Amino acid sequence: MKGTSFSFINLYKITYPFFKNIAFAMDAERAHELTIHSMKSLGGLLPDHKDDPRFHFKAMGLDFKNPIGLAAGLDKNAEAIGFLTALPFGFVEVGTVTPKAQAGNDKPRLFRYPEEESLRNRMGFNNFGSEVILENVKNARRRHKILGVNLGKNKVTSNEDAPKDYAVLYKDFAPYSDYLVINVSSPNTPGLRDLLKDAGLRQIFEAVDSERKKNHKPLLVKVSPDMALEELSSVVGLVNEYKLDGIIATNTTIMKERGEGGISGKLLTKKARETREYLLKEMKHSHSEGILIGVGGISSFDDLMDFWRAGGGLAQIYSAFIFQGPAMLFEIEARLDLEFKKRGVKTFEEFLHSVRL
Ligand SMILES: Cc1cc2nc3c(=O)[nH]c(=O)nc-3n(C[C@H](O)[C@H](O)[C@H](O)COP(=O)(O)O)c2cc1C
Repeated sequence: MKGTSFSFINLYKITYPFFKNIAFAMDAERAHELTIHSMKSLGGLLPDHKDDPRFHFKAMGLDFKNPIGLAAGLDKNAEAIGFLTALPFGFVEVGTVTPKAQAGNDKPRLFRYPEEESLRNRMGFNNFGSEVILENVKNARRRHKILGVNLGKNKVTSNEDAPKDYAVLYKDFAPYSDYLVINVSSPNTPGLRDLLKDAGLRQIFEAVDSERKKNHKPLLVKVSPDMALEELSSVVGLVNEYKLDGIIATNTTIMKERGEGGISGKLLTKKARETREYLLKEMKHSHSEGILIGVGGISSFDDLMDFWRAGGGLAQIYSAFIFQGPAMLFEIEARLDLEFKKRGVKTFEEFLHSVRL
């Protein structure tokens, strides 16, 4: 099967630059829609990726085939799971899903900065709504990969009523997903980030907790890189108190000089990394049982090594996947293979131990 992986990396290496040239000549959102459409049509045709048992990783009681996942927002409507799980991703997170369908903000709302391998989006949780997305999730070909669902509130839902949106989404999606994420960190829904403050988050955790008692699934909260340190500490406190399984850090960052919306990719690396390192320390000091999923400006194997050295494990990517294509994932596997051999380790746990020495 090594031969299969080899030919697929070459296939992506050859075809992706060609595809990217065409896609990058188009409006960014149009290109995104066409890509999702193609992935949807091709998904069933691709064979499974042969995973390497050395890269398997256990977290939150789940078995990940490798620790690199796709972040939320690329497959908002859970239409391309069959394609995405055929790639060397260990997990795929779909959404953000809101209870009712919503159109999102006015277009244009997705912008590229190719030289800086970065994106700016002010999408505003455009999605088909929970009813349609739940059907897509139920019918998806998942290839035994871990599937996360990212949950958000509708724009028309007031912050006071937000706990109900999250509770109802948890109830609907918990039976069909491996983990769920409370997302209150998008900069594109007015007032949403206010819910990251202690009182707002507590009410959401409280409402979701009553559903979680009936059907227990791993649950995480996704935070913003623009939060003050004391706000991050308070999230860690609540995660410990409500026994959440972890934190996803981070969402996009606001850079006013670039315009409205959230910035992702290399322009986010420093801020996201600082946020992650602070959270990892806080989680360690508070003896938290939760994990940290690292996302935000991770665009190379060296970025992953930084994260693993700092104490992280599972990581997600989005922008780098757009700029570098699927070959990036095969290259990460090849670099891991070299590191494993160099360090004489045979499991991912041993590898993490060795990089943290
Ligand atoms: C176009 C776009 C849409 C996104 N939509 C969502 C979303 O719906 N929910 C969410 O939690 N994060 C969303 N994100 C944020 C990503 O999941 C990720 O946290 C962020 O892009 C940082 O990672 P990156 O630097 O690897 O892109 C979106 C990002 C982009 C670029």
